[in-house]
Amino acid sequence: MIQYMIEGGRPLQGTVTISGAKNAAVAILPATLLVNGTCRIENVPDISDVRLLLEILDSMGAEIRRLSPNTLEITCTHVRDSEASDALVRRIRASYYFIGAQLGRFNHARVALPGGCNFGPRPIDQHIKGFEAMGATVELQNGFVCASAPEEGLTGGRVNLDVVSVGATMNIMIGAVLAGGTTIIENAAKEPHIVDLANFLNAMGAKVSGAGTDVIKVRGVKSLRGGFYSIIPDQIEAGTYMAAVAAVGGDVLVQNVIPKHMDTISAKLREMGAKITEYDDAIRVQRSGRLRRANVKTLPYPGFPTDMQPQIAVCMSLASGVSVITESIYDTRFGYCAELNRMGAAIKVDTKVAIITGVDRLHGCAVRACDLRAGAAMVIAGLAAEGRTVIEEVEYIERGYENLIGKLQGLGATIKRIETPAPRTASVAG
Ligand code: EPU
Repeated sequence: MIQYMIEGGRPLQGTVTISGAKNAAVAILPATLLVNGTCRIENVPDISDVRLLLEILDSMGAEIRRLSPNTLEITCTHVRDSEASDALVRRIRASYYFIGAQLGRFNHARVALPGGCNFGPRPIDQHIKGFEAMGATVELQNGFVCASAPEEGLTGGRVNLDVVSVGATMNIMIGAVLAGGTTIIENAAKEPHIVDLANFLNAMGAKVSGAGTDVIKVRGVKSLRGGFYSIIPDQIEAGTYMAAVAAVGGDVLVQNVIPKHMDTISAKLREMGAKITEYDDAIRVQRSGRLRRANVKTLPYPGFPTDMQPQIAVCMSLASGVSVITESIYDTRFGYCAELNRMGAAIKVDTKVAIITGVDRLHGCAVRACDLRAGAAMVIAGLAAEGRTVIEEVEYIERGYENLIGKLQGLGATIKRIETPAPRTASVAG
C-alpha cells in the first residue's frame, strides 16, 4: 500500500523539468512491433504505464535495453507471433494499441479488452470501424478483441470517425502504416501526441501526413526500419505543475515544455489571475493574489483538455466567486469532487457539470486518488491546504507522473511517499 503524506500551505518555488509525454509513449511503444530494426527512443517517461507496456513487449520477445533512465533501445525484429499476456493487458488502457500493431505486423490480433481509469463507458467501436475500413474482420469474444486481416494483409481505407477519438486515431494510424495503399482518417483527433506518433512512425520510414489536422493520410509502406526518436514533453504533466503553482501560490519555471501545446491552459490560468511568461521551451508561472473565478468546458485539442479538468477544479475551489466546469468528453469524470469537498471545497455536481463556489481555504484530511488526474488534483489540493493530507491509492498517480515526489520536493513542497506492506490475508484452505 502506498500513500502520499503532504504538509500543505507552502508556496512552490524553483524549477521543474517536464518528462516525456505519457500518451505519446504508450502508443509509440506498441508501435515498435512494426519496426524491422532497433528503435532508440529518448525522453521515455519512467512511469508505471510505460513499465507495464515494456513488460508486455518483453513477454512477446522484444529485446529491450535501458541506456539511461529515459532512453530505451527496443528491437522487435525477432518477436514471435504471440499474444500479449491478458493479465498485463487488462491493467492498462493503452494496450489497445497492440490491436493495430499486431494486425499490422502479423495480420491478426487477439488482445484482452483494455482497463484504465473509470470514467464511465469507454468503447472502442471507432478503432474497430477503422480496422474494418482496412478490410479486417473484428469480433469481440469473451473479453477479447479478435481481429484478422485478409490473406493479402490490410488495405488502405477511408474512415470518418463518429467521435473525435485520440485512441482510435492513433490505433488506425498504427494499423495503416504497413497496409497496402492509402488510408484516410477523417475527423481525426489533433492532440500533440497524435503528431508525435506520426513523427515517430515517419522517422522509422512510414509515410504519414496531415497529423495535427482533422484529416490524416497514411500511405502504406513495405517495411519500417530502425531509427532514433525523442518523445515530446508531456502537456498534461506541465499543466499539472502550472495548476499547482496557481492553486498553491509561488513562482516556478516549468521547463522542457512546448509552450504552444500549453496555450489553452496558459490562457485559462491567466484569466484566473496567474502571471504566465512564455520562453522558447519553458513557462514561468507566478501567483500571489487570490485567483478569480472562471468557466471551463473540456474539448478535444486545441480545446481545454479533459485530463486537466480535476487540477483546474482545485484552482477554482480556491478562487473568488462561482466557477463552472462542463465535461464534454466523458460521461462521468467528477468522482473526485466528493474527496475535494471533504477537504472543505464547495462543489455541486450535476452529471456533466460541476458548480464550484470558491472557499478561503482547504484543510488537510485523508482522501483517495480516484484515478490518475483526480489523484494529481488531490496532491495539488493537499499542497494548498492547511495541515496534513494523506492520499491513498496513489498507484493511479504513479501510472502517469514521473518522480512526482522528487519534483515537488525540489519546489520546496513537504511531501513524502510511504510504502507499507499490504496486510496479510488469511490463506485459503484446500
Ligand atoms: N469513444 C467512443 N468510441 C471509441 C473511442 C472513444 O465512443 O471507439 C469516446 C470515448 O468514450 C470518449 C471520447 O470518445 O467519450 C474520447 O475518447 P478517446 O478515444 O479520445 O480517449 P482514449 O483514447 O480512450 C486518451 C487518453 C486519455 C484522455 C483521452 C482524451 C491514452 C491512453 N488515454 O484516451 O488519457 O483522457 O484520450 O484526451 O492516450 C489520462 O492521461 O489521464 C487519460 C485518461
